[in-house]
Amino acid sequence: MVAAVKPGVTTGELDAIGRDLFRRYGARSAPRVTYNFPGSTCVSVNSEAAHGIPSLTRTLHEGDLVNIDVSAELDGYWSDTGASTPVGKTSALAVRLLDATRLAQSDAMDAARAGNRLRDVGRAVQSRARRHGFCVIKNLYGHGIGRALHEEPSVPNIDDRQQMRLWEGLVLAVEPFLSISAQYVFDDADGWTLRTEDDSLVAQFEHTMVVTNGRPVVLTL
Ligand code: CO
Ligand code: CO
Repeated sequence: MVAAVKPGVTTGELDAIGRDLFRRYGARSAPRVTYNFPGSTCVSVNSEAAHGIPSLTRTLHEGDLVNIDVSAELDGYWSDTGASTPVGKTSALAVRLLDATRLAQSDAMDAARAGNRLRDVGRAVQSRARRHGFCVIKNLYGHGIGRALHEEPSVPNIDDRQQMRLWEGLVLAVEPFLSISAQYVFDDADGWTLRTEDDSLVAQFEHTMVVTNGRPVVLTL
């Protein structure tokens, strides 16, 4: 889907690629099965952080920032991954946001090791965002995953003082959202799309990983 992103493509055409792949492998779309989401994948543009509804009338334009979030179930196991990517050539600021968010995601996975606390994951995201001059969306979380799309625990993207310790074998979807200036997202009128409060750009990267005593085992690379 990321490889098919270019000016003139619709978010519905991107979704069809995901839908067909799910079909070919016998997998089921997680948001459709779990929440009756009106799409196989979530495709969110610019100030839309997540849960954007794919549409054949929503055309991507040069300079847009698009987020593709894909989650699926196969044989009772669930997995979740996401990435933001530019449409053609985008602004220098958007490129910096993408780089910072990718690093924040990687820092967060490194912090999610056995014995560390849940708050350490959020702290890693927050300090990376600060260093690059961006904001963390406070009301979006990562989550446990495995036998369902969303399991305990919620994984904060800020230091929320959660003292719970992580253990070896715990499977998490780690997904920080960074924006130019927004700290919260709200529900759009369509009932699904989550949009930044001030309409500023937002980016997300997400991987499903296994917590170990050392480096994470990333399942969605
Ligand atoms: Co996701
Ligand atoms: Co997720």
